[in-house]
Amino acid sequence: MKSTVLLAASAAALLAGCASGPTAEQQAALVDDARKASGALVQKLGGELKAALSEKGPDGAIAVCKERAPQIAAEVSKQSGMSVKRVSPKNRNPAGIPDAWEAEAQAGLEKRLAAGEKPETLDTWQIVATSAGKEFRYARALPTQPLCLTCHGDAATIPDSVKARLAAEYPFDKATGYAPGTVRGIVSISRPL
Ligand code: HEC
Repeated sequence: MKSTVLLAASAAALLAGCASGPTAEQQAALVDDARKASGALVQKLGGELKAALSEKGPDGAIAVCKERAPQIAAEVSKQSGMSVKRVSPKNRNPAGIPDAWEAEAQAGLEKRLAAGEKPETLDTWQIVATSAGKEFRYARALPTQPLCLTCHGDAATIPDSVKARLAAEYPFDKATGYAPGTVRGIVSISRPL
C-alpha cells in the first residue's frame, strides 16, 4: 500500500516537473548555448564570405553562400546539439521560408531595431509548447551590412555578373532591395526539451 502511494507521488512530481518546463538556470544555459552557436555561425560564414569576396570576387563568393552556409550550419548544429539554420521572409533559398514563430520573432526584432537597439546584439527566445512536447526556440537578427548589398541590395548595387548568376540559380529570389542596417533574416535555433 505504502509503496503504491509513494510511486504515485513521485510520478506526480515528475509530471509536475515536465509541465513547469526547464528551470531558470536551465533556460539561461540554453540561451547561452544558442548565443554561442549563432555567434559561431555568423563569425565563420562572415569570415569565409569576406575572404571569398576579396579573393574570387562576388561571383565566386556566391558559392560560399550556397554551399558553405548550409555546411557551416550543419557543423554548428552538430557541435551545439541544437538545430541551427538561416531563414528570411524575403528568402533566396526556397528552403529558407520562416515558420510562424520565426516570422513573429523577426518582426519583433525589427521593432526593437527601430526603437534604437543595436543590430549586432538583437536576439530573442521562448519555450514553446508543441504537440511533441516543449521546445526551446531562439532567433538572432542578421543585420544587413554594406558588404551584403553586393548580393542583397538594390538592382543598382548588384554587379551585372552577380545578377545573372542569381537569376540562373535562384529564379524565385526575393532577397534583394535591402538597405544597410535592416534585418536581412535570422539565425533560427531550436531544441526539443
Ligand atoms: C556573394 C553574394 C552574397 C553576399 C555578399 C551575401 N549573401 Fe546572403 N545569400 C547569398 C546567396 C546566394 C544565398 C542563398 C544561399 C542558399 O542557397 O542557401 C544567400 C542567403 C542568405 C540568407 C538565408 C536566407 C535566404 O534568403 O535564403 C541570409 C539570412 C543571408 N543570405 C544574409 C546575408 C547577410 C547578412 C550578408 C552580409 C553579411 C549576406 N547575406 C551577404 C548571397 C550573398
